[in-house]
Amino acid sequence: MIDKCLFPAAGYGTRFLPATKVMPKEMLPICTKPLIQYGVEEAIEAGIHTMAIVTGRGKRTLEDHFDISYELEHQIRGTTKEKHLADIRNVIDKSRFVYTRQREIKGLGHAVLTGRHLIGKEAFAVILADDLCVSKGDSVVKQMVELYKRERCSIVAVMEVAPNEIISYGSIAGDWIDDNLAVVREMVEKPTPDKAPSNFAVIGRYILTPRIFETLEKQSAGANGEIQLTDAINALIKEEKVLAYRFSGIRYDCGNLDGFVAATNAIYKQMKGL
Ligand code: UTP
Repeated sequence: MIDKCLFPAAGYGTRFLPATKVMPKEMLPICTKPLIQYGVEEAIEAGIHTMAIVTGRGKRTLEDHFDISYELEHQIRGTTKEKHLADIRNVIDKSRFVYTRQREIKGLGHAVLTGRHLIGKEAFAVILADDLCVSKGDSVVKQMVELYKRERCSIVAVMEVAPNEIISYGSIAGDWIDDNLAVVREMVEKPTPDKAPSNFAVIGRYILTPRIFETLEKQSAGANGEIQLTDAINALIKEEKVLAYRFSGIRYDCGNLDGFVAATNAIYKQMKGL
């Protein structure tokens, strides 16, 4: 079914400078775990085995993180400190990691297209690791994979935001089938509140059919001069059904400081059982 997850992780992370000058944004820790690991764990929970990561220059630590660190492992083997490696060992054991580099940072759509040869001709999930999703039940990607099994089409995860916040997101116009599911008619990237078709904002979780690569290939630069995934999905809508799914859970935008601090506090409370 859905066996591959693409992680676009080549962005500059300018909002976190200087922390991201030499360290990838995706390696910033929320408590003791880097953001990307939360994303990979979410994918594993959804039954996904192949993690396809689109990296860029200066992002080698991402690859090192999902590999064995022989010296460290040797040093702490048999000590009480070994337990701190349990989660990452589990992730490494359960997954296959494949990488490619986005040589020019031309936008999220371009990053997804760069990952095409890692995905092939199958439907796949996309996780933007700086969107950290926490849910009481199934992870957000698991909810979407279950939905895909039923609907067999592309799905974007959406949440309702305040009208003045929609400018930071892609906004959807859709025909709602029930409280949580809509057939998307249109998507608009970063609209002003008066131009937004709705206050339903697309967040960093997608299931995409491989047809997206064909629509991405035809895209020219859109908002911010970048090749936008939103524009390609908009083109896809004309050829295939695309659903918007109002997920169950909380999403933290860890690409900005407020979201990052909120996620840190929430995960800290969870870890301490508070
Ligand atoms: P963002 O819009 O958050 O951009 O990208 P950014 O560069 O990471 O951060 P700022 O805005 O400069 O602070 C959303 C996601 O898309 C990836 C990013 O790594 C992030 O996961 N991305 C973006 C790419 O992989 N390549 C791109 O060309 C652009």
